[in-house]
Amino acid sequence: MDVEQEKRLAAEAAAELVEDGMTVGLGTGSTVRYLLPALARRRLRIICVATSPRTMRAASELGLDVRPFDILDHLDITIDGADQIAPDGWLVKGGGGAHTREKIVAAAASRFIVIADSRKPVDALHGPVPLELLEFGLPATLRRLEPVAVRTAPRSPDGGILADYHGAVEDPATLAERLSATPGVVGHGLFPPRLVASVLVGRGDSVERRT
Ligand code: 5RP
Repeated sequence: MDVEQEKRLAAEAAAELVEDGMTVGLGTGSTVRYLLPALARRRLRIICVATSPRTMRAASELGLDVRPFDILDHLDITIDGADQIAPDGWLVKGGGGAHTREKIVAAAASRFIVIADSRKPVDALHGPVPLELLEFGLPATLRRLEPVAVRTAPRSPDGGILADYHGAVEDPATLAERLSATPGVVGHGLFPPRLVASVLVGRGDSVERRT
């Protein structure tokens, strides 16, 4: 299995879904790295929004028109990677710590397309589930979230503390509700199926489309 080829194939298939004149949300990660040149090669007139400074820099260097996400209130399509994809469409995202912005950009799009290699589909989601936490009251927030570990990583671009929930993920909907309802949690990496329009998984030398 050539994982890099699978990522590239999924990313290139997703790039073909983008049409002239669209507003496009760009995710973050190693799979999205293949998306950016594939999009740039198409020379479409599109306006992009990036989910991280890293993606913004890479996309701009390739000549894509990247704008801040404070001038648009809707996107036509968002394309992003995932860490885990469950059979019912729930995702775990945020391995790269960009999940809060990624969820905002996914939710703002008419179509959210997930691109992944064949290691990402799983039978059942499991921890760690990425978190972004407010610094104020951090020890109290962590206590409520046990078992949780703060990452030894820089903060998010919005100043949030990055951490991971290491408990069981038996029922993603219940856990997502609990994490969202915990004071001090800015965002978590559980993405519900209702956000996802399509999943493109590179498998060997072809692309499997789910939903
Ligand atoms: C970053 C993310 C990424 O989309 C996720 O971690 C997948 O990354 P990769 O494409 O490198 O496997 O959520 O916060």
